[in-house]
Amino acid sequence: MAQETLKSDIKSLLRKRNAVLLAHNYMRDEVQEIADITGDSLALSMEAAKTDADVIVFCGVHFMAESASILAPEKTVLLPRLDAGCPMADMVTVEGLKELKARYPGVPVVTYVNSSAAVKAESDICCTSANALKVVQSMSENEIIFAPDKNLGSYVARFTDKKFHLWEGYCPTHERLRPEVVVELKDQHPGAPFVCHPECNPAVVALADHVCSTTGMYDYCRKSSAKRFIIGTEAGILWRLKRENPDKEFILASPALICPNMKLTSLEDVHEALVNMRPVVKVPEETRVPAKRALDRMLAIPRD
Ligand code: 13P
Ligand code: SF4
Repeated sequence: MAQETLKSDIKSLLRKRNAVLLAHNYMRDEVQEIADITGDSLALSMEAAKTDADVIVFCGVHFMAESASILAPEKTVLLPRLDAGCPMADMVTVEGLKELKARYPGVPVVTYVNSSAAVKAESDICCTSANALKVVQSMSENEIIFAPDKNLGSYVARFTDKKFHLWEGYCPTHERLRPEVVVELKDQHPGAPFVCHPECNPAVVALADHVCSTTGMYDYCRKSSAKRFIIGTEAGILWRLKRENPDKEFILASPALICPNMKLTSLEDVHEALVNMRPVVKVPEETRVPAKRALDRMLAIPRD
C-alpha cells in the first residue's frame, strides 16, 4: 500500500476505534508524523494516564506500553511490535533487585521507567530522564538504590549528597557514543553546543554543554541562539528538531546512535495492529497495583 493511503487508513481506523496514537521521540519519522502525541517517556506516561480514548496505540518499546496499561487499565493498549523491547530494561530482574534490597535493608528503590512492570512493582518510586533529580530530591532518605541505568544514576548523583547504590545496567545504544568522537566533533564545529542524554557514558556526559531528556532537547535547541548543535541521543530525535528549527543544523554525534528496537515499528505494523486489535499489552493486577504506586508517586511530582 502506498504510504499516503496507509496514513489515511490509519487515521480513519484511529477514529473508528476511538484510539490515540502515542509515539516516542525515537520512532521512525513517518510514525512520528501520524502520531497524535509525540514525546519523551514522561510526557507519554502522563498522556496515557489522562486520555479519554478507549484504545492506546503505543509506538515505542514494551516497557512503555506496560506503563500505559498500568496507568490506564480500563483501556486497550496495543504495541504494534511485541518484539520491540529494551535491552537496558532486560538488564534488571526482580530476583536481582530483591537481592540488592536484602543487602541494603530499608534503603528505598528508585527505578528508571525503562524497566519491566514486575521490577516497578518491587520499587518505591519511578523516574524518567526528565525528572530523575527531582524524584531523588523528593526522597527523605539519604541513601537510595538506583536501577537499572548506572549512567543516569551517576549523573544524578553528582547533584545530591545522597549515597547511591547503582544497578550496573546501561543503554547499549547510548553507550556506543565514545568521548573521543565527541571531542573531534567539537573541534570541527567550534561553538556548536553538545547536547546529550544522561544515558550516555559519564565520559561523554562530561563533555556536554547541556544534559537532558529528549523533550528537554527540543526546548533547549529551540530557545538557544546557536545555529548548529551536536546531538548525543538516538537518531529519531532529528526529525522533530529539524522540523521545529528549519534554520538550524543538527549533527548526530555518531551514526551508531540508532536503537534497533525503536526502529522496528512501521506504518504497516500500526495499520495491522488497528485492524486486528492486537498485540495487546496487559499487566496482571497483582503486578499492576504495586507498579502503579511507584509510577503514581513519580507522577505526583510536577513537571517544570
Ligand atoms: P526519554 O527519557 O527522553 O524518553 O528517552 C530515553 C529512552 O531511551 C527511552 O527509551
Ligand atoms: Fe532501551 Fe536505549 Fe533503546 Fe531506549 S534507546 S529503548 S534505553 S535500548
